[in-house]
Amino acid sequence: MSEVNQLTPYQMLGGDAVLKQLVDRFYQIMDQDPKAAEVRAMHPEDLTVSAEKLYMFLSGWMGGPDLYIEKYGHPMLRARHMPFPIDSQGRDQWMYCMLTAMNEVPMEDALRLQLEQAFFRTADFMRNQDA
Ligand code: HEM
Repeated sequence: MSEVNQLTPYQMLGGDAVLKQLVDRFYQIMDQDPKAAEVRAMHPEDLTVSAEKLYMFLSGWMGGPDLYIEKYGHPMLRARHMPFPIDSQGRDQWMYCMLTAMNEVPMEDALRLQLEQAFFRTADFMRNQDA
């Protein structure tokens, strides 16, 4: 295995500062882009706490410090999304915000593909409506 493969996605992305920047952009896009209107409407008016939670969750999810678990315990992500009716449109709007934010962050192609696939699998898993 080459040295670079031993790095976590968190390290390959650029660590804490880059992850924070990615999450901030993600929510900025959700807040401003009409293409994400339905998913935006499910969120609280003030996105500060949402952004902090997603940043803390993704830190551990990408192999960095388990910030979310340390503060809130097991994420139980699917259960926490149950109060919101999430269909394929919601999933695709969430993905649109994430892919657009990711496009602004320089990273290796292999990491980009890995993250895109992992985000899609997770976002699809949050779906709790048939459509
Ligand atoms: C890779 C996919 C996703 C990840 C990693 C993710 C992650 C998270 C996290 C960590 C939280 C905070 C949970 C808490 O402690 O309260 C959250 C909340 C939330 N998510 Fe997701 N989510 C994903 C997909 C989605 C999708 C597809 C939707 C809707 C279409 C969605 C809508 C929401 C909403 C409305 C909240 C509540 C926000 C708040 O109370 O501040 N999420 N998500």
